[in-house]
Amino acid sequence: MKRILFAATLVAIGAVAYAEPPAGGPPPMPPYILRPAAPEGDRLAPGRDGKALFEVHCGYCHLVGGMGTNLLTKQQMMAGNPPEKGLLSNREDLTADYVKAVVRMGKGAMPQQTKVDLTDAELEAVSKYLGKAG
Ligand code: HEC
Repeated sequence: MKRILFAATLVAIGAVAYAEPPAGGPPPMPPYILRPAAPEGDRLAPGRDGKALFEVHCGYCHLVGGMGTNLLTKQQMMAGNPPEKGLLSNREDLTADYVKAVVRMGKGAMPQQTKVDLTDAELEAVSKYLGKAG
């Protein structure tokens, strides 16, 4: 009987602890885990928001803390560039054609992204957003 009471007490304490996290609550999730909701609209239609599409389809690797950002930050720093250049959105040297080629063919540790991951129209918008070098 004592054992059952003890177990019930533990369950009750556990339930309270679970329901009410310690002061302040759990820490916020890192931004790369927060995959923003895809923008509304026809995925095959041209002219959608390249920045929003980039954040949805590439952000879990290419926003702050993502594995793509981490690897590219290391590469950029080894090339003598500031660490901010690890974020693709801060790069001035990417062309739209280069972005499209990397996305469809992959590069090193980056897996290729299919037309299901990102339609041609979406890739067009994303590459226009990132391709600041033309
Ligand atoms: C699964 C994670 C992942 C996703 C999703 C991803 N990437 Fe990447 N990306 C990487 C990694 C890792 C690298 C670095 C590859 C290497 O050099 O080994 C990279 C590299 C790149 C590069 C090359 C940069 C350079 O300096 O040469 C471009 C451009 C790029 N990604 C664009 C995109 C775009 C646009 C998307 C979305 C359509 C995307 N990536 C989705 C992980 C990802």
